[in-house]
Amino acid sequence: MNRKLRLGIIGSGYRSTLADYAHLPADGVEIVAGTDIFPEQRAAFQERYRQKFGQTVRVYADYHEMIERENLDGVFITTPDYCHEEQACYALRCHVPVYLEKPLAITIEGADRILQTAYDTRTALMAGHNMRHMEFTNRMRELILTGAIGEVKAIWCRHFISYGGDAYFRDWHADRSNTTSLLLQKGAHDIDIIHWLANARSVRVNGFGASSLYAGLARRPAGNGSPCPCVAEIRSQKAWPPESTADYYPHISNEDINMINMQLSNGVQASYMQCHFTPDACRNYTVIGTKGRLENYGDTASTAAIQLWNKRSDAFHLEGTETIRLSGRDEKHVEADRAIVKIFTDILRGKAAPVSSPQSGRYAVAVGCCGAQSIRNGGNPFEIPALPENLENCDFTFSQNI
Ligand SMILES: NC(=O)c1ccc[n+]([C@@H]2O[C@H](COP(=O)([O-])OP(=O)(O)OC[C@H]3O[C@@H](n4cnc5c(N)ncnc54)[C@H](O)[C@@H]3O)[C@@H](O)[C@H]2O)c1
Repeated sequence: MNRKLRLGIIGSGYRSTLADYAHLPADGVEIVAGTDIFPEQRAAFQERYRQKFGQTVRVYADYHEMIERENLDGVFITTPDYCHEEQACYALRCHVPVYLEKPLAITIEGADRILQTAYDTRTALMAGHNMRHMEFTNRMRELILTGAIGEVKAIWCRHFISYGGDAYFRDWHADRSNTTSLLLQKGAHDIDIIHWLANARSVRVNGFGASSLYAGLARRPAGNGSPCPCVAEIRSQKAWPPESTADYYPHISNEDINMINMQLSNGVQASYMQCHFTPDACRNYTVIGTKGRLENYGDTASTAAIQLWNKRSDAFHLEGTETIRLSGRDEKHVEADRAIVKIFTDILRGKAAPVSSPQSGRYAVAVGCCGAQSIRNGGNPFEIPALPENLENCDFTFSQNI
């Protein structure tokens, strides 16, 4: 019989729905409480649990109070990035295991402090890099591991974000003091996937980027935002082109184009390019090995496919020598979220190892931070600092049973 788990959530905004997948009372896992600094968000969270699960959850304005009163077995942290370090360290110091949304922190030092606190308190820590549970990334990795393209030498990711204006320039995301950069905020996922596909981490990064569109559009007056100034909404797809739109966050300091080059410890050369005002939305990866090339056309829908070219042809063919179709079951990455949340609850029961470790989350932060520094310093290359040995080699599940 599984022991019962009492879980809480810090930050009841958009991403708090992640916790809903963990809430399985029949399996002995319950979300019992949540916190948010905004009363509207607390009320909406309570109402969601009442309607969706017939469950009463207690809510707190102060996360410290929730942790002190609720005797939690684990906590999901789904607050804005600038809150992660303080909240994760507090929970860990109270010996409450943490599921921490990406990016782990907005500075390298902050991410290292989180890992060090988990290490010192021997309390489980997991990084919320759910892209490692997506179908297209897994299929690409399987192809690489089975040798379909030989030895990986280059990985290039182009990231088209049609909803970038709505999701990242209407609220806290737009301001670098909250995020460091959207290269880190959004790109942490892809930097991590590049590391995962290459089976190595970056040692050096440089980049260019610009604040090329949204900073010039009409903004909301400061202090006159939506009832909850932290919550952006995805608006109508008719809001096009972006230059015809308005009502942006009062403080825009982040770039809307970010482009970085990475050199990995095993010699793989990689690049990541992100634009927040494309007409369409997709993460497009190409992986080049010594015996072939992979590319995903689309990343979620049932029309999405991975093309594998492994015979020479001195022309371009839309279809590869092999086409690997995606099932399209995971349109809004619900399946990936279910899978990663299950791993967290299994870790709490001493029965699982994470697919995305705190160390990999920390290296994604390091590349995002150093890449942003390069973009803001004329494209100079920056070395990625290594983790201290004790943290590099630590099993952050702290379980003897795995
Ligand atoms: N893995 C993914 O697919 C994915 C997707 C979206 C967001 N995220 C991550 O999730 C996190 C949250 O993003 P979001 O889009 O849900 O943001 P959001 O703004 O919708 O929600 C954040 C919530 O935290 C609350 N909050 C702010 N400060 C707080 C504090 N001190 N204590 C308690 N609550 C506080 C806000 O009021 C808000 O309700 C971010 O770190 C983001 O990077 C991950």
